[in-house]
Amino acid sequence: MTQQPYLSVRNLSKHFKPAAFSRGPVVKALQDISFDIPRGQVVGLVGESGSGKTTIGRSVLRLIEPTSGEIMLDGVDITTLSGDQLRRQRRKMQYIFQDPFASLSPRMTIGQVLTEGLDIQGIGTRAERRARAEKGAGRGGTAGRRLRPIRP
Ligand SMILES: Nc1ncnc2c1ncn2[C@@H]1O[C@H](COP(=O)(O)OP(=O)(O)O)[C@@H](O)[C@H]1O
Ligand SMILES: [Mg+2]
Repeated sequence: MTQQPYLSVRNLSKHFKPAAFSRGPVVKALQDISFDIPRGQVVGLVGESGSGKTTIGRSVLRLIEPTSGEIMLDGVDITTLSGDQLRRQRRKMQYIFQDPFASLSPRMTIGQVLTEGLDIQGIGTRAERRARAEKGAGRGGTAGRRLRPIRP
């Protein structure tokens, strides 16, 4: 028996319309994209700049709304979800932003950055979230240091 893919994207399209009151063509960034990612596998997406890699990633996370298509995550069509249901599915995905200046806020400590996602998802107590952040930071080479005062 073949296993259901972990992520299955079908006929995904994303068209960016020009902003209100401005001229310009509709940008057809994605047209009819379909692919699967099997459970437990790593898949690389390669293409020239502007070919739509980021738009695929942002659509799959529902950071932007696809124009059409179906995105099945672990058997659930996430294009139709909103609110709490979407938040629950988001626990299964993680976007790693390329640009540290855009993703690491200098107004927050590293401890706050690392616990923010757990906070939003309501995972663990405050102390547990802090302990997980310290452990994760340890793996990243900040071991043994208190995170509270450190800023990016
Ligand atoms: N928010 C947006 N509004 C209008 N056009 C966009 C927007 N985001 C991306 N695009 C356009 O969509 C196309 C694909 O971009 P992108 O997904 O960033 O490509 P890649 O990540 O492969 O470099 C490009 O032509 C880009 O200019
Ligand atoms: Mg990109």
